Amino acid sequence: MKLILLGAPGAGKGTVAKMLTALDGSVQISTGDILRGAVQAGTDLGKEAKGYMDRGDLVPDSLIMGIMEGRLQEDDCKKGFLLDGFPRTIPQAEALTELLKKLGIKLDMAVDIDVPRDVILDRLCTRRTCENGACQAIYNVKSNPPKKEGICDKCGSPVVQRADETEEAISHRLETYNQKTAPLIGFYKKAGLVKTVTGTSSDAVVAAIKGSLGL
Ligand code: AP5
Ligand code: MG
Repeated sequence: MKLILLGAPGAGKGTVAKMLTALDGSVQISTGDILRGAVQAGTDLGKEAKGYMDRGDLVPDSLIMGIMEGRLQEDDCKKGFLLDGFPRTIPQAEALTELLKKLGIKLDMAVDIDVPRDVILDRLCTRRTCENGACQAIYNVKSNPPKKEGICDKCGSPVVQRADETEEAISHRLETYNQKTAPLIGFYKKAGLVKTVTGTSSDAVVAAIKGSLGL
């Protein structure tokens, strides 16, 4: 499957993407995970991105397109991909349209995961993430805690709060989403690609996506 996952911070894009990869070997491409990996590794990309991310601002479009042009042409994308957190602005969506045209790739759907704001705020305050840049497994102290407190089930690294999970950064990320990313729903509606899924159960979101794709 070739999907875009839209949705506010905390809507469950990463959680749903990981569930979908198990269905047909499509790969999850999270620009947030790529950037956090670069910050942890101390690369030039990471150094440039860190300030924006910690504040809850978007990283410049040019940096993101530089990453995605290469990433979408890697071999593991041939089976399909789940774009998690990309595109995030109208210019990114326009650039993606051009890139996919050039590569001869057709999207199946843009899924808008619609979750109430109070649920989102609660989830972001209680999320924990594996700090190993190559793993970044997602947990939640209420709904999905690691088996051993503070330790990742998958790789044994510490499970921590993300640097952008301060109250100030969370509210700024939600504001940025409303201003810059929510307009993408209209953009993909015009292209006839939007499927809105309202609900707080990730199983129900996955079932709705499977139903729409006829899986
Ligand atoms: P990014 O990493 O993409 O963060 P985000 O969009 O803010 O989204 P989140 O990862 O916070 O939420 P999610 O929807 O993945 O939810 P999750 O599954 O974790 O981006 C971070 C930063 O990088 C940006 O601010 C920006 O600076 C930069 N960036 C990234 N991409 C960019 C781009 N394209 N352009 C420019 N800048 C970019 O779930 C949240 C929590 O809820 C978890 O604890 C989970 O366990 C729990 N949960 C999920 N589903 C359920 C459920 N059904 N029931 C109960 N709990 C649930
Ligand atoms: Mg995520």
